[in-house]
Amino acid sequence: MQQEQKQAAALKAAEYIRDNMILGLGTGSTAYYLIRRAGELVKEGMRLKAVATSRSSEKLAEEFGIPVTDINEVPRIDLTIDGVDEIDPDFEAVKGGGGALTREKITAYHSKQVIWIMDHRKQVLKLGAFPLPVEVLPFGWRLLSEKIQSLGYTPILRIENGQAYRTDNGNYILDIHSPSPAGYRKLSGLLRSYPGVVETGYFPAVCSRIIVADSAGVRVLEN
Ligand code: A5P
Repeated sequence: MQQEQKQAAALKAAEYIRDNMILGLGTGSTAYYLIRRAGELVKEGMRLKAVATSRSSEKLAEEFGIPVTDINEVPRIDLTIDGVDEIDPDFEAVKGGGGALTREKITAYHSKQVIWIMDHRKQVLKLGAFPLPVEVLPFGWRLLSEKIQSLGYTPILRIENGQAYRTDNGNYILDIHSPSPAGYRKLSGLLRSYPGVVETGYFPAVCSRIIVADSAGVRVLEN
């Protein structure tokens, strides 16, 4: 059911793809369906180029026959379609469950248009249930983690296969597990002022529309 909803949101978002676009491809299980559909559009004759927000999405795009270009080689990004982990009514979101937050944020920032796609479980009244992912340099991460802990938060080093998870940029992720009373916007600003913090998974409302699927169908909400 959840997969069907993710797919429904992705297929709806694909309707916004136009010939000759340079597309930003998101990361995650919802973005998967979008990449697959974009591949079908290419096979049907649409001329698309893509930049990917992660190596895994780049690999998928290549498998589905979408020409992928280095982000430093494109003149613009027309439309980025990506998933979210949690989103509030003001379209502020937490992303980075898949570890691609920094590339996702850079790609979104430079996109003319951003659409976020999701099943309805991602919608919340207030951000805070999903841990805030923070990408940090490996150098000094432990002292940085202790600093964050001293502020009353609970940073947990993300582990994968028994080892510190590495982002596509070679960095670590600290997942901050206690909700911030002041909110993620303020917490994110504070964290970004610390040396060694590369980026946080708090995304201000950078998208122009969200597409939400539930058992009743698909809704398109404009910002
Ligand atoms: C990747 O780093 C994330 O920001 C994803 O966009 C987010 O985790 C949504 O993933 P799913 O579509 O798999 O839920």
